[in-house]
Amino acid sequence: MNRVTVDVGPQPYEVLIGSGARRELADVVARVAPMAELAMIVTQQPLIDAHWIAQLDPGIRFEIVVIEQGEDAKNLETIEGLCRRFVEAGLSRHDLVIAVGGGLTSDVAGFAAASYHRGIGYVTVATTLLAQIDAAIGGKTGVNLPEGKNLVGAFWQPSAVICDTEVLSSLPPREWACGRGEMAKYAFLGEAIPSAALLEEDLDDQVARCAGIKSDVVADDEREGGRRMILNYGHTLAHALEAIGLEDREAGRASRSADLLHGEAVAIGLIFAALLARNLNRIDDDRVELHRRVVGGFDLATELPPGLVATELVDAMERDKKAHHDLTFVLDGPEGVVPVRGVPAEVVLATLEEMGARR
Ligand SMILES: NC(=O)c1ccc[n+]([C@@H]2O[C@H](COP(=O)([O-])OP(=O)(O)OC[C@H]3O[C@@H](n4cnc5c(N)ncnc54)[C@H](O)[C@@H]3O)[C@@H](O)[C@H]2O)c1
Ligand SMILES: [Zn+2]
Repeated sequence: MNRVTVDVGPQPYEVLIGSGARRELADVVARVAPMAELAMIVTQQPLIDAHWIAQLDPGIRFEIVVIEQGEDAKNLETIEGLCRRFVEAGLSRHDLVIAVGGGLTSDVAGFAAASYHRGIGYVTVATTLLAQIDAAIGGKTGVNLPEGKNLVGAFWQPSAVICDTEVLSSLPPREWACGRGEMAKYAFLGEAIPSAALLEEDLDDQVARCAGIKSDVVADDEREGGRRMILNYGHTLAHALEAIGLEDREAGRASRSADLLHGEAVAIGLIFAALLARNLNRIDDDRVELHRRVVGGFDLATELPPGLVATELVDAMERDKKAHHDLTFVLDGPEGVVPVRGVPAEVVLATLEEMGARR
């Protein structure tokens, strides 16, 4: 079993990684919440159907609450529903919420835990690759508004995170792809290993490596003042692709990027970021090639979908809240991956054209 500590104050916590890690749940609960008498397990139907929930033992009395699936369910109504169920069950300040699911479940259950009684403890059993290497670690919780994603939330760290790689055996293929896109990102964030080495490791070590990088960055910058921005590597174009996909879908237009899952959009975003860095003379062609090799090695597409317009993509990037109102990108360079402000729009447009977008 791999253990990674997320060193945030005042209460550092542990991420437990490995095949069968779910069996540690009772021990973890006893350790992090010795006073707890009741746990509310918040989960989704696929986890019940795959019999993972039946195998979970928190070691104390528990109730199961099932939330709906998909981004539409990530809203304040779901939070209200959860908190009302908590009251009904008699959940006290000393008790515990246990999120069992992907990033959506930990975002929602974590925010409910952050709000209920002004904050009670929660533990996450992360069951998607994306949640294990990213979403479950770092304490960002929250929900969407009709106006945009993740607009309401709280920084509320879990008391522990369990990443059981065996549970990933029931994960649908596209959810794997989604997680691998995020994993490809970490290949360029870790300092200790050459970028392509991550491809060669077995799944447990890959998850542990990525969880370790995420934990380090979060411990360094809990509230996203600076360094945490590097976790958005590949995400500026990815968010633009997702935004345009959403607009297409809402307008009933034939979809250009609407079919991309988040991690698939990140994979394309990584290639774009590499080309942009090269066009700004930050890296050379070999380093761009390495990005292609890693993204391709994780079995992900490296090309923009056809029919995209470069100016439209840049507009979408400027609207992205993470872009800080100017064209800021997270880019590879001589000191590794860092935020770069004030990138000229002309170079961005030219790079998008190089990837096949129309002007
Ligand atoms: N808080 C953060 O730092 C952070 C970071 C990245 C993403 N996120 C959020 O995470 C969400 C996406 O998370 P996700 O990609 O994990 O998707 P998800 O949580 O929506 O899960 C995808 C689907 O897989 C199912 N599923 C989960 N585990 C399964 C398993 N082991 N077997 C079978 N089916 C399973 C789920 O029920 C769901 O239908 C988004 O809402 C995103 O905003 C948060
Ligand atoms: Zn992401």
